[in-house]
Amino acid sequence: MKIQHCPSLFFFVFLILSPPAHANHAQPGNMELTEKECGACHYYYSPKFMPAYSWKLIVDTLSDHFGDDASLDEASTQRILAYLTQGRSTVPPANLKKIPIHITNMVWWRRAHGTKFIEKAAQDKITLSNCANCHGLWKLSPVGGGLM
Ligand code: HEC
Ligand code: HEC
Repeated sequence: MKIQHCPSLFFFVFLILSPPAHANHAQPGNMELTEKECGACHYYYSPKFMPAYSWKLIVDTLSDHFGDDASLDEASTQRILAYLTQGRSTVPPANLKKIPIHITNMVWWRRAHGTKFIEKAAQDKITLSNCANCHGLWKLSPVGGGLM
């Protein structure tokens, strides 16, 4: 039997190799897609920068994204959401009044930079959300211990 005469064999192998739908967050290419689409207008923000419920709110409202329309097709949207949340819970804590959508409002970020620094930047009208202004790097780590 010549192999090219047997398309159903290919289909069978494809089925075996395909990850199950619930393993979507591990799908290769999701990171590259997110870097490409979410790095198009500004610094690419690492998934580690914010909790999953913040990413979910951001991805759910891309058509009105800080005054821009950043919406994507449904398949890409779902892949980006899967990558940014990486299986973590997208349900916010019940006592949370407002879901944060600014990295610069995260406690870890404010600690890393300090109140004095943040106030001075505001006076000097420096846009703190543009990380690349100062770091010149991407893929920073939020947990301290140096820039990745
Ligand atoms: C069409 C341009 C555009 C695209 C594409 C885009 N953004 Fe944005 N994004 C903006 C603008 C404009 C702001 C506001 C920047 C500011 O206030 O300095 C912003 C701000 C943000 C912020 C808040 C940063 C902060 O700490 O203040 C996050 C988080 C963010 N975007 C995530 C994303 C994600 C995730 C994607 C991909 C799904 C994405 N963006 C794609 C234009 C875009
Ligand atoms: C106006 C300049 C400036 C901007 C903009 C800025 N940072 Fe920083 N960042 C600094 C400085 C300076 C430090 C070092 C503070 C220190 O060591 O006391 C720092 C420290 C950090 C650290 C801690 C590094 C470590 O070794 O623990 C992280 C993580 C970080 N920044 C991430 C970000 C991210 C993410 C953004 C964008 C949302 C951002 N920064 C925007 C100036 C900036």
